[in-house]
Amino acid sequence: MGEQVQDQVKPVESVKRPAEVELSQEAVTTTAQPVSAVTTATQGEKRESNGAIGNDAQVAPEVSGEPAAKRVKLDEPETAVPKTDSRDKVKGIALVKAEYLIDTYRRGPAKPATDTIIDDDAAEARLPTDSRDKSGGGKKKKKEKGQNKNREFGSWYDSIRLCNTLANSPEFSPKECRFGDKCSCTHDLRKYLKEGKREDLTTFNGKCPVWEVNGKCHAGWKCRFVSSHSKEIEREDGRKELVLVERDDVAPGNQDDNENRVGVVNIVSTEAKVDLSRKRTKTEKADKYCDWLEKETKELEKIYQAKKEEIEEQREQHRASYTEAPFLASEKRRIYFGPETPVLAPLTTQGNLPFRRMCVELGAQLTYSEMAMTIPLIQGQKSEWALMKAHESEITPPKYTPTSIVQGYDNSKDLKFGTQVSAAKPWQALKAAEVLSNMLPHLRVIDLNCGCPIELVYRSGAGSSLLDAPSKLEKMIRGMSAVSGEIPITAKIRMGTKDNKPTAQKTIERLAFGGYESRERLGAPGCAAITLHGRSRQQRYTKSADWTYIAECAALVKSYNRKKDELADTVREPDARTLPNSPDGKLYFIGNGDCYSHVQYLDHVQNGGVDTVMLARGALIKPWLFEEIEKGQYLDKSASERLGYVEKFVRYGLEAWGSDEVGVGQTRRFLLEWLSFAHRYVPIGLLEHLPPNLQDRPPAYRGRNDLETMLASDNYLDWIKISSLTAESCRKFSGDPFLEGLVLSLLSCRVLVE
Ligand SMILES: Cc1cc2nc3c(=O)[nH]c(=O)nc-3n(C[C@H](O)[C@H](O)[C@H](O)COP(=O)(O)O)c2cc1C
Ligand SMILES: [Zn+2]
Ligand SMILES: [Zn+2]
Repeated sequence: MGEQVQDQVKPVESVKRPAEVELSQEAVTTTAQPVSAVTTATQGEKRESNGAIGNDAQVAPEVSGEPAAKRVKLDEPETAVPKTDSRDKVKGIALVKAEYLIDTYRRGPAKPATDTIIDDDAAEARLPTDSRDKSGGGKKKKKEKGQNKNREFGSWYDSIRLCNTLANSPEFSPKECRFGDKCSCTHDLRKYLKEGKREDLTTFNGKCPVWEVNGKCHAGWKCRFVSSHSKEIEREDGRKELVLVERDDVAPGNQDDNENRVGVVNIVSTEAKVDLSRKRTKTEKADKYCDWLEKETKELEKIYQAKKEEIEEQREQHRASYTEAPFLASEKRRIYFGPETPVLAPLTTQGNLPFRRMCVELGAQLTYSEMAMTIPLIQGQKSEWALMKAHESEITPPKYTPTSIVQGYDNSKDLKFGTQVSAAKPWQALKAAEVLSNMLPHLRVIDLNCGCPIELVYRSGAGSSLLDAPSKLEKMIRGMSAVSGEIPITAKIRMGTKDNKPTAQKTIERLAFGGYESRERLGAPGCAAITLHGRSRQQRYTKSADWTYIAECAALVKSYNRKKDELADTVREPDARTLPNSPDGKLYFIGNGDCYSHVQYLDHVQNGGVDTVMLARGALIKPWLFEEIEKGQYLDKSASERLGYVEKFVRYGLEAWGSDEVGVGQTRRFLLEWLSFAHRYVPIGLLEHLPPNLQDRPPAYRGRNDLETMLASDNYLDWIKISSLTAESCRKFSGDPFLEGLVLSLLSCRVLVE
């Protein structure tokens, strides 16, 4: 699909836009301009991009690959008055080329298209209460402000439910239903198909995308594309039977297990979850460690409560009576963070499996689960364990070009997918770490969230509140590392809780070496990597991330690592207790905040001193940011290419969540969630200046074609409305069934939303 939808400016399609060409052109056309914030930024970018690694493609102009808009400019006769734009860049507003502005705003003062304030805070501050396990409808909650409010999606169930004993069986041979006559679901397949479920979708030409990939479809009769994989056959006795069709090459498997999806890993069995919920699962290591920790804490408290003059004496006593930790951490799997491994951030709701799968395809090298709460994990709650599922592409090794030898690193044993958890108490963190490491072999790291700003999380003593509880934080990390087997433990922190009072350097020191007392006796806590989001809790998204501070912290971590190397170089065996991280592991440092382009990425890696950069909203707004980083250039994606990503997301969503009513609803819901970010993308071909700032809101503008206009609406209800208009025109010249289906499903989504 996709390519049938013609862009008016055809050559722009899949054109790589060498940033340097744009920049040099800019130099010509902006000479008469006052030096605005943008031109300064542009020059800054030019300077930064010079000589940047991987930037060759960017510097060499590709004549054939030049965007049409660009060529028009170059072809203009020399006498033509160079186009200048007298409008000044207004902070927070994207400077869209005048020809794309909608009349009211043309050359007028820049104003955003609506007064809706982008509320990323609200999007982040959404607790992962939704279930990926077929929970269906939502509950009524009070109205919230902003674009990214929690939306209601109505009921996703069939009006008559089909008993699961029939769901994957031929009509005449259902499995036995243990509820017999008391079963509340129907056992009449024909009635269900006629009256119980909605008609098949026409999206994807009516062909089931799950079946197309796998040759079978778990949703069976409940699939919203079932007519593409079922038929009626005539039996010898003349009876007509409805049967499901499987492709010949499909190995017979257990189709009944709703959990098992082709290509999905980290699935924990229902029995294991039931065992957890009934407290039948043992966490021996965590329990032992917590017992020891309790005693240890009491001893330490005695010291802290002692009078000054008594302290030394107490300390001595304590040291004498000190009992060793019950066990040491096992050797960890080595991991690697480097310039070639851009990281996709943990993202509640948005960082779902289909989205991550798409990002991996576009070049994300490391991914994280959405933040999971440790208590529901320990209690075996299905929805929390569903967050651990990953796509098989996420358990492949990240990219690695060994420029320096990382001790003991074996790239083939490394993988992309890590999980993030939130815990308020050490015992929660430890139990969860032990259970996770026992049940899920495919976890790269277990990351402890120390940055979540949500009030509820903060007040419970988890998330960013850990930044003000360094001793507890250390206990958690040390303990998690002790019980997590070979899985490394990492932490994601913020600058601090309060504005203008950054504490990250202290936190980093604590995570690298441990507190004074524990450092002496126990050595480093074993934190393998730290990610710093360059904002405070208080600040949320109001100001830009502080990359100067991030760079200072990066320098600190570098100095720690150097210390370690120096010690290792000397003849004497380095004392593990004086080293950051685990005895022989390097402490990695990842920067995070406002990275929206490959230019910024390179700058942070090269000049900011971070090992790599974590991308959150940048990846949500344009997932091909990873591709831009890999290629070292801006990519002017056409509207049909962008719609192609929407299609991809839908396919991946149906594969992950199923193609039945619930799975389709789930897919739609998360598609709309993602679009609430993706619509913010202003195609770079429409911008007066580079670099784009994805935080900027555009004034009302039209795209280079209807589709581009449709994708740009900043109100999701409008988006759906516009899409129905566009569907008409699309249908006229493309007859594209996918578009038609997409629009139909979005329209029915609107019905559900309203
Ligand atoms: C929708 C949304 C959900 C988020 N969920 C999480 C999360 O679950 N865990 C976490 O550590 N950070 C979360 N964050 C914060 C991001 O990981 C990241 O630290 C922050 O957005 C700054 O990066 P950016 O400027 O690239 O967006 C979330 C952010 C957003 C916008
Ligand atoms: Zn039944
Ligand atoms: Zn199907």
